[in-house]
Amino acid sequence: MAQNPPVGGRTRRRPQARARCALSLLTAGVLAAAGVVALTGTAQAAGALGDAAAAKGRYFGAAVAANHLGEAAYASTLDAQFGSVTPENEMKWDAVEGSRNSFSFSAADRIVSHAQSKGMKVRGHTLVWHSQLPGWVSPLAATDLRSAMNNHITQVMTHYKGKIHSWDVVNEAFQDGGSGARRSSPFQDKLGNGFIEEAFRTARTVDADAKLCYNDYNTDGQNAKSNAVYEMVKDFKQRGVPIDCVGFQSHFNSNSPVPSDFQANLQRFADLGVDVQITELDIEGSGSAQAANYTKVVNACLAVTRCTGITVWGVTDKYSWRSGGTPLLFDGDYNKKPAYDAVLAALGGSGGGGDDGGEGGDGACTATYTRTSTWNGGYNGQVTVKAGGSGITGWAVPVTVASPQKVSAVWNGTPTTAGDVMTVRHSWNGTLAAGASTTFGFTVQTNGGTSAPVVGACTAS
Ligand code: XIL
Repeated sequence: MAQNPPVGGRTRRRPQARARCALSLLTAGVLAAAGVVALTGTAQAAGALGDAAAAKGRYFGAAVAANHLGEAAYASTLDAQFGSVTPENEMKWDAVEGSRNSFSFSAADRIVSHAQSKGMKVRGHTLVWHSQLPGWVSPLAATDLRSAMNNHITQVMTHYKGKIHSWDVVNEAFQDGGSGARRSSPFQDKLGNGFIEEAFRTARTVDADAKLCYNDYNTDGQNAKSNAVYEMVKDFKQRGVPIDCVGFQSHFNSNSPVPSDFQANLQRFADLGVDVQITELDIEGSGSAQAANYTKVVNACLAVTRCTGITVWGVTDKYSWRSGGTPLLFDGDYNKKPAYDAVLAALGGSGGGGDDGGEGGDGACTATYTRTSTWNGGYNGQVTVKAGGSGITGWAVPVTVASPQKVSAVWNGTPTTAGDVMTVRHSWNGTLAAGASTTFGFTVQTNGGTSAPVVGACTAS
């Protein structure tokens, strides 16, 4: 695995509460326009990345460890940014059923109640997996193992019934390499191929509302392993075995880069009639290279209608299971990395941060970015400028469009450009009452460039 120096020193402040408010309103508007109901309240609590994803009809989550929830910066970053959580280890078999039929849910419950109190959704991970399996399971003979497996699924899913949006029912059942074979495990070796189907059928009887997923790694591109999973899902769909989704772990580094056919692979699974989810995303590296890889992944998900959400495998590099590879969106001091800005921008939220010079309070104004149309060679962007708790008489918003991309038109605002940074000031629309908003728009000729524009903080005058 590539070892990279930690990314540090990014201390730019983003007026979080104000940006979230603007994003929430945007989200509510989009959802209302799309006729989506019953999400009121959760959108508000989804946080910056969560809100931006929700505006695209998706969730954006993070893996969470219960023992870090007491750390103020960890919890506040989680709460400010994410709309879904996955317990990183706390729902695994060894954590919840260390002794047969004796269940302990306290650590996982702490995560679930934290999430619920903040309006976040929860992914369940994972019910049947060869790893993190307590020692009592593997010596069991087939009949006993079958009943232990079904009992485990039933007890855990019953405990969390109604609280989990998607369950990883079976995790990592296939081998790496070119064989396309199932991995040796107590379940495979004693129950045969049918254990996966049985696990899904049991799961459906327990919680008919949770999405039931098969989850694996090294299946992100098209290869022998993903082909084998594909054939299994196709067979399940044909025979009516209950499966709703496929999770792509998406642990990337220089030895295992984001595959060029990632989107095509997600799409072929979606075409089988299942949702796809990016379940454990982390990408080793730093700086703009890491940011560009994150952009690829987010764009791939956004391009696939049935890609319903993305989870990054942790909040901060310092607690990552691959911390040496600094693979996450926040560094060890909870500073936003370039990868964070890239993800937020790709999701259509305002990226880049910056300081509006105003301190605290309800702020002077906020800027929220959306891409409104795309064509071969260009796109239109729109920024909503919203006044805070007091009226304003003018505003300015910096928009960075990286070369070779070029802005070819701006409307409802007056641009001045220095290098890649275009600052757009009000034209006729500078006066906004408290809470009122206006928009400006711009056209970008991409000239082969792919990065999203970075929209900075609004400054009022
Ligand atoms: C990892 C956790 O992040 C670590 O804390 C733990 O020690 C081992 O498991 N695939 C999975 C996840 O499905 O459950 C794994 O999580 C990472 C690989």
